[in-house]
Amino acid sequence: TEATARLDPHDEIADIDRRLFGGFVEHLGRHIYDGIFEPGHPSADADGFRTDVIELVKELGVSSIRYPGGNFVSGYRWEDGIGPVAERPRRLDLAWHSTETNEVGLHEFQAWLDRVGSDLMLAVNLGTRGTQEALDLLEYANADTRTAWTDQRAENGRAAPFGVKMWCLGNEMDGPWQIGHKNADDYGALASQTAKAMRMLDPGVELVVCGSSSRSMPTFGSWERTVLEHTFDDVDFISCHSYYQEYDGNAQEFLASGVDMARFIESVVSIADAVAATKKSDKRIMISFDEWNVWYLFNPDGTESGHEFKGGAWPVAPRLLEDEYHALDAVVFADLMITLLQHADRVRSASLAQLVNVIAPIMTEPGGPAWRQTTFFPFSITSRLAQGRALRVPVSAGTFTSDKLGEVEAVNAVATIDDEGVSLFVVNRSTTDAASLRVDLEPLVRVLGREVAVVESHLMHEDDMYAANTLEDRERVGVREAEASVVGDVLSLTLPAVSWTAVRLA
Ligand code: AHR
Repeated sequence: TEATARLDPHDEIADIDRRLFGGFVEHLGRHIYDGIFEPGHPSADADGFRTDVIELVKELGVSSIRYPGGNFVSGYRWEDGIGPVAERPRRLDLAWHSTETNEVGLHEFQAWLDRVGSDLMLAVNLGTRGTQEALDLLEYANADTRTAWTDQRAENGRAAPFGVKMWCLGNEMDGPWQIGHKNADDYGALASQTAKAMRMLDPGVELVVCGSSSRSMPTFGSWERTVLEHTFDDVDFISCHSYYQEYDGNAQEFLASGVDMARFIESVVSIADAVAATKKSDKRIMISFDEWNVWYLFNPDGTESGHEFKGGAWPVAPRLLEDEYHALDAVVFADLMITLLQHADRVRSASLAQLVNVIAPIMTEPGGPAWRQTTFFPFSITSRLAQGRALRVPVSAGTFTSDKLGEVEAVNAVATIDDEGVSLFVVNRSTTDAASLRVDLEPLVRVLGREVAVVESHLMHEDDMYAANTLEDRERVGVREAEASVVGDVLSLTLPAVSWTAVRLA
């Protein structure tokens, strides 16, 4: 396919909030225990954190990290995770049918974040708990005056406040699987009351109210409308969660996932702005896309995967949700990142779900190595290169037909511009056709007043799109240099079928 595009610095979407490159760490499976925390591991530091994992998380480039769940948070007592470790209770975690040892809690997780250089984003439990417990946690974490809670914080080794800025008002409260699941009116009223009280304690917090667990939820749309009717004045963000997977070996359909994500975002923006209109308000609610990824949640027979742990024992750190990602997954994943950037004006925060071992870009083996999954590469490269402002890059490359979404662009792209240069991210969604893309750089060259050259390029593509990195073959899939060159005002790129390309121009 011969494809064309135009890169114009005036075609600006918005500045990019660094929080778009967030992550998510839940007490789930081997995420914390035997993931980031493994005291007996040869690479463990004095606090039991694996330094090999810390190095990989740094390389990944995650801005803020949502914690401690997820479904887990809806049954969590945060006080279980503070104070002397030896005195902390072991508890049943109903969400993941596991035993939580509470060896890692708020202080330990913050210590780990200090090492990886990411900010904390906390979720409060609005499942089994309510406003008072959320206030207790906020006071413990953020209050800067002497109280019973801050005295306890100081006794536990932290005199200065944690200063947590972003807070999620519960997790996926629209989901029947959620402990304490509520209807939209009941949740909206509780979230509004909790948000108001939290702001009385700390006016500087930014609050995220729960949107839908996916666009396919039966309550999608009406949930957002009702919840925002209750909370519009009290919150800054509404959340979106979405996971994608290949069904029935239909890679072409899977490769349209970015379009589903775009429609999800655009629908939620429309609903939020419609609520604003009825309130005659200029306020704009932003989106926190605080769970997104590829996740093989469903088996080929339609049953939910990962539920074999239900019933029987209550293990500590079982192997749950340990998806192995192949090159095709990484291309879809990269397209999801492009989609987030294309909506940078309203998606001001996003969290890749999750980070280590659990549907994760980083895998570990107890006592053994840590390695990068295929999805690691698009995340780390995009996080590093997508700086400054996001630019629209319309591409003409033809379409294919998706059963669910109709006509879908075969090639999707976005660019970013900062003081040092321009980055372009392009996905070829076609399973059959490679594309030669010619990008007209004339508007860019005119604005910069100088020509540009390719200074860095990366291609994610495998002839076997199901190739993955495994414990036995940890570097099977990676990125290599893309076929990219600038002649005059034209950037030429060769885009293999099912591929992702990132190019840095300076
Ligand atoms: O990320 C795994 C789970 O997916 C989270 O616990 C939950 O919020 C979502 O359903």
